[in-house]
Amino acid sequence: MTDLRFVPLLPDSELPTGRMRACTVDGREVLLCRARDGLHAVDNICTHAFARLDEGRIRGTKLQCPLHGAVFDVRDGRVLKGPATEPLPVHHVRVVAGQVEIALDPAAPPPPKAG
Ligand code: FES
Repeated sequence: MTDLRFVPLLPDSELPTGRMRACTVDGREVLLCRARDGLHAVDNICTHAFARLDEGRIRGTKLQCPLHGAVFDVRDGRVLKGPATEPLPVHHVRVVAGQVEIALDPAAPPPPKAG
């Protein structure tokens, strides 16, 4: 089993419910979301084409891409509405001593590239 390497990102108090924050972890663009059920971390790049999901919107646990409107569930990354067909990679998130920390999923496939 691979050891996860958690990286501290921001104070837990800085991300209210219903908000998102884009960040970069080990060179990967990640989107931290606080849904009604808690914190989630997913790739910030849509799996359909190159679009940053922090420019879209989140409602409940549904994250909508700003480019063609695909919808993902931030809890498990599954596609709820196309045109995307591939799930969004989901990363590990925890809160330690008031700090939100993320660890990348070592099995996550690379996101689409720009251009
Ligand atoms: S780039 Fe996200 S739905 Fe097309």
